Amino acid sequence: MKQKMLDLMELEKAFLKKHLRVGGTAVDFTMGNGHDTAFLSKEVGAEGRVFAFDIQPRALVSTAQTLEKEGCLDNCTLICDSHSNALSYIKEEICAGVFNLGYLPGGMNKQVTTLRPTTMQAVKAAISLLEPGGGLLIAVYPGHEEGRLEGEMLTEYFATLDRKRICVGCFKIVNSPTSPFFFTVETK
Ligand SMILES: C[S@@+](CC[C@H](N)C(=O)[O-])C[C@H]1O[C@@H](n2cnc3c(N)ncnc32)[C@H](O)[C@@H]1O
Repeated sequence: MKQKMLDLMELEKAFLKKHLRVGGTAVDFTMGNGHDTAFLSKEVGAEGRVFAFDIQPRALVSTAQTLEKEGCLDNCTLICDSHSNALSYIKEEICAGVFNLGYLPGGMNKQVTTLRPTTMQAVKAAISLLEPGGGLLIAVYPGHEEGRLEGEMLTEYFATLDRKRICVGCFKIVNSPTSPFFFTVETK
């Protein structure tokens, strides 16, 4: 039987697809096992470009395997550095970017998680890179303490942004406060 309840991942992909375009540049700010990197790579196509960041070398290995398995185009640059340094690597406007905050799923070390100071810096960098009509998707995992605090920090920050230039949305399961939720950031 067809699943009728909202699927968070489907919503996330539908949002990103609205902003991704063939030939565009996209960024996976939290590469992990590379599933988002592969998705972005297919959407921007051979003429496009994808930058992907992670601080764990093993994420680059795992992502390279995912890209190969998915038959992804050779349009990805995998960078072993913090997403807070994104501006040192990306010198062009981007049509879309994705953050899946938190720790590597299936990873041994849950201590290696995204952290408020670097997340804040990276989100600001990502916004500054967005082309007009571009979009960022930021998935937050409030089931662990740092994730909950990242969500609070971003909610406060996004509320300060100029509505005439940037529109920020949030999709949350309101009767399940520890479930993952996501922000959407769109430039006019
Ligand atoms: C929830 S996982 C991402 C899942 C990934 N999108 C996928 O498709 O598998 C979060 C990732 O962010 C990485 N990370 C943590 N801090 C980071 C930072 N400062 N810069 C870049 N990546 C970071 C972690 O190592 C982890 O792999």
